[in-house]
Amino acid sequence: YTASLRVLDTAVPPPHRVPRVDRPWASGDPFANAIDTDPAVREHREAVTRLLGRAASSTLGDDTLAEHTVTDRAVLDRLLDDARAAGAAWGARPAAERAAVLQRAGDALAAAREELIEVMVSEAAKTVDQADPEVSEAVDFARYYAHHAEELEQVDGARFVPAALTLVTPPWNFPVAIPAGGVLAALAAGSAVVLKPAGPASRCGAVLAEVLWRAGVPRDVLNLVQVDEQDLGGALVADPRIDRVILTGAWETARLFRDFRADLPVLAETSGKNAMVVTPSADLDLAVKDLVQSAFGHAGQKCSAASLAILVGSVATSKRFLGQLVDAVSSLEVGMPWDPTTRMGPLIEPADGKLLEGLTTLGEGERWLLRPKRLDEEGRLWTPGVRSGVRRGSAYHLTEYFGPVLGLMTVDTLDEAIAVQNEVSFGLTAGLQSLEPEEIGAWADRVDAGNLYVNRGTTGAIVGRQPFGGWKRSSVGPGSKAGGPNYLMGLGSWQRADATE
Ligand code: ALA
Repeated sequence: YTASLRVLDTAVPPPHRVPRVDRPWASGDPFANAIDTDPAVREHREAVTRLLGRAASSTLGDDTLAEHTVTDRAVLDRLLDDARAAGAAWGARPAAERAAVLQRAGDALAAAREELIEVMVSEAAKTVDQADPEVSEAVDFARYYAHHAEELEQVDGARFVPAALTLVTPPWNFPVAIPAGGVLAALAAGSAVVLKPAGPASRCGAVLAEVLWRAGVPRDVLNLVQVDEQDLGGALVADPRIDRVILTGAWETARLFRDFRADLPVLAETSGKNAMVVTPSADLDLAVKDLVQSAFGHAGQKCSAASLAILVGSVATSKRFLGQLVDAVSSLEVGMPWDPTTRMGPLIEPADGKLLEGLTTLGEGERWLLRPKRLDEEGRLWTPGVRSGVRRGSAYHLTEYFGPVLGLMTVDTLDEAIAVQNEVSFGLTAGLQSLEPEEIGAWADRVDAGNLYVNRGTTGAIVGRQPFGGWKRSSVGPGSKAGGPNYLMGLGSWQRADATE
């Protein structure tokens, strides 16, 4: 298994060092780096740009979605019965057969790259550079889980019994990669699936399902279901015919799911409030680039986003660093996702509540280095914001806002920075910018987060290389990570090989 190349991804591992120049953003392009000058990347970007002409008016997936929208409890009941039966048959097939279907699914996803990008851009407001790596990630999930499906059958003395039916409830912010990850893991393990896409990204889910069905995933094994969350959503989650739920969403949603059904086996990846520490030994040019990508990719609407920079010692007073950071952030073109010049697209919904507060209200001692400005009537398009003076224990330090705002906090030592990172109730991603091996070692030993990234942005985990999942309130369930070697094991149970059913 080899992870596919991600040409436009924030997850492309940066070169270990980028050349130091005084104003690396002088081109006006904060993402300009060696990757952009690669002819293969340019060609790909041009192909995607051509595609964008159609993106704004796409209706891809609408018919499929209409067909699979369930409003009647009796219809849902029948569907769950049939899906369970299909799951039993699917799970009884040799793992090699299921793996072959998954390999075909990987090829089909790769072939449908433009179709998938188009629906992500047109429905879920993802810019192309954010949508493109999602397709790569979905392909990676297919190939990775295909490989691991066969391993499950090879454990001596024990037999893996897959869940018959898994409910997959993905979020809207990664509307292809995350549902693909859940669906493909369950299929690889031998379970049938009910995929209930997030409301604001339901067409994305429909197109994904179409691609997988076309690749040979049986329709009764992968069931696309859209229900009104207020109406049948609770009934679906609480239904005892569902053996597992794979949820990616807010921590509050995971808690709500538990309220629906206390004994629900749920594998959930939930919220995060993630910080990147920058020490005086860091390559500050790289730190700026990684911070900008981590904080403002998809307008900060990622559980993995870094919305706090913890500046150690002299970094906090470095005019060069702060100047570059503010230049880079203010050069992000804000606009509609299908416009190729856009570097930061809209919010999925108009900012309100907590997010609006994060975009407009300062805590004690804070000031705006860049104040977010609302650019449209609706309140979906905002310029990115940077606030300095964030205090330990403040609302900004501890709250996930899920939008385009970065806070800066100053500390004296790396020890203090680690304490600040660990004081948050979540523990999803954490970043460090440092070129000192001792600092890196000390930090990695002590930070309480699922995914630690050194001299790299905090978003865009790569399947197989950086299995993704959190600690503390960023995870509910067995804690195995998506895209990692143990994930499939959470989708079934083990019996002694000689046990009878
Ligand atoms: N897996 C996504 C990321 O790493 C959430 O950014």
